[in-house]
Amino acid sequence: MNKIPEENNKDIFILAIESSCDETAASVVKNGREVLSNVISSQIELHKLYGGVVPEIASRKHIERINQVVEEALSTAGMTLDDLDAVAVTYGPGLVGALLVGVAEAKAISYAKKLPLVGVHHIEGHISANYIENKDLEPPFICLVVSGGHTHLVRVKDYGEYEILGRTRDDAAGEAFDKVARAIGLGYPGGPKIDRLAKEGNPDAIAFPKAKIADAPYDFSFSGLKSAVLNYLNGCKMKGEPIVEADVAASFQKAVVDVLVEHAMWAVAESGLDKFALAGGVASNSALRSAAEKACAQRGIRFYRPSPILCTDNAAMIGAAGYYEYIRGVRHGLDLNAVPNLKLGERLV
Ligand code: KG4
Ligand code: ZN
Repeated sequence: MNKIPEENNKDIFILAIESSCDETAASVVKNGREVLSNVISSQIELHKLYGGVVPEIASRKHIERINQVVEEALSTAGMTLDDLDAVAVTYGPGLVGALLVGVAEAKAISYAKKLPLVGVHHIEGHISANYIENKDLEPPFICLVVSGGHTHLVRVKDYGEYEILGRTRDDAAGEAFDKVARAIGLGYPGGPKIDRLAKEGNPDAIAFPKAKIADAPYDFSFSGLKSAVLNYLNGCKMKGEPIVEADVAASFQKAVVDVLVEHAMWAVAESGLDKFALAGGVASNSALRSAAEKACAQRGIRFYRPSPILCTDNAAMIGAAGYYEYIRGVRHGLDLNAVPNLKLGERLV
C-alpha cells in the first residue's frame, strides 16, 4: 500500500491537514518546500465570545468545515486526490477532539485512495515552516518555538531529529500574551493586539521582572511576569493612578522578548552553529522578529523566520514536515490515533 518514490527526482505531492486547535487547515505541498495551496478556516471569531478556545466548539466546527477546506486546498492547487503521493496530518499535541477530526479525515482519504499516511508532530510542523520560504535552510540549526501552548528552544540536528535544550516551566509565551491582553481589556487572541498596542507605548516605562531559572539557562518562566503585570494593574487601580495600556503592553512585550532572545543567543553560541530560526504563532510578533534579527546580525548568525501567515497554525507547515518524514520512510497505519500530549521527537508508528 505504501508508495516509495521510485526515482529520486520524482516530485512528491502531499496533502496536509491540521486541526489541532482552532484553525481547520489543508494544504498541498510539492517536495516539502513549494506550497501549491494553503487554506485556513479560522474559528477565532467564534471563540472570541468566550475569551479563549472552547474545545467542544472547536471540534464541532472542524467537523463542519474539514471536507470543504480539503476540497478547496485541492482545487486551488489544481489537483485531485489521484495526483497525491501521501496524506500528512497533525496527530499531536493539541486538543484531542480537534485532532481527531483531522486524523479521521486523513485516514479516510488514505484508505479510500490507498495513499501512505504520515502522522506529523505539530511543533515539528512549526519548525518546518521555515523550510518553505528559505530554500537554502537545512539542519543543523537552533530554533526557538514560541506558540500558544509551547515555548521550546530546540537544536534541529537533522530533518526529524530534535534535541530540546530548554522549555517553559509554566506558561507558554503565547499564553502569557493572551492572559496579559485579557487583563488590560484587549480580548482574545491577545498576542497580535499587544503587538499593535505596544507600538504606541514606551517599552522602558515599567520594569517588569525577567525570570531566570538556576542551573537551567535555556528554560523559561512566564507566570511570574504575568503576575507582576496583574499586580501592577491592581496597584494602579487601588492608588487611583491612570493605567497607560500602551506602556503596559510595550513593557510586558519587552520583558518577554528580552528573555527569549537572550536565552536563544546563549544556545546558539554554545552550539557553535551559525543559523537561528523562529517558529510558532509568537514568531509573528514584530518586536521579537526585529530583536532576534538584530541579535543575529551582531553575532554573524544567519536569521530565519516564516512569514506571519506561516507562523500561526496552518497546514503548509505540516506538508513541509510531512515530506521529510515521508522520504525517511515514516508511515502510519489506519490505527493512527490523536495523541494530545505527544512529545517532540517521539514517534508512535
Ligand atoms: O502557533 P499558534 O498559532 O498556535 C499554537 O500552536 O498554540 O500560536 C498562537 C499563539 C497565541 O497565543 C497568540 O496570541 C500568539 O500565538 N500570537 C502572537 C502574535 N500573533 C499570534 N503573540 C505575540 N505577537 C503576535 N503578533
Ligand atoms: Zn501551533
